[in-house]
Amino acid sequence: MVPCTLQLDLPHPQATQHLGQYLGQHCPAGMILLLSGDLGAGKTTLVQGIGVGLGLVEPIASPTFTLVNEYLEGRIPLYHVDLYRLSPAEAASLYLDSYWDPLETTPGLVAIEWGDRLLTPPPDALGITLTDTAAGGRQATLVATTSVHVTLLESLPDYGLLVNEV
Ligand SMILES: Nc1ncnc2c1ncn2[C@@H]1O[C@H](COP(=O)(O)OP(=O)(O)OP(=O)(O)O)[C@@H](O)[C@H]1O
Ligand SMILES: [Mg+2]
Repeated sequence: MVPCTLQLDLPHPQATQHLGQYLGQHCPAGMILLLSGDLGAGKTTLVQGIGVGLGLVEPIASPTFTLVNEYLEGRIPLYHVDLYRLSPAEAASLYLDSYWDPLETTPGLVAIEWGDRLLTPPPDALGITLTDTAAGGRQATLVATTSVHVTLLESLPDYGLLVNEV
């Protein structure tokens, strides 16, 4: 499939949270989100919204020091990874593959901050890049690489208004 790009305007933190909430409500188990963007771009904010969408009561904390946090109480498991402190070689040695190998863990939603540090990106990941806007908000660029991603993005509530498909 030819990758399909969707750009969304996120003018304030609540908009980032809402996008996350939508993903938490609708992503099927097995989905991998590769989150990119500079320091403070809003990656953890997005995952906090995912936690709300999954129905988690426990608040999502940044896994910058723990590397991986697992939340098993929601609609599907959430595996929240942060590769910020790792070199690509160290990131490879975490064997994150176990999170998308159904024989090793219960399939869930894997959200990887600084996902671009992975030398070998996971298969069929949905890429989400957050960038600052001149107005002080953020723009999210979502790159869909599978028909499952496309279906998910097509049913985003404001799809018709917000899309800039490439
Ligand atoms: N759409 C938005 N518009 C403006 N501010 C936002 C937006 N989304 C998130 N923020 C704010 O950006 C700040 C940094 O957010 P966050 O910690 O989620 O970033 P991060 O990408 O996880 O950072 P790090 O790279 O350190 O992990 C927070 O104050 C958050 O409220
Ligand atoms: Mg973060």
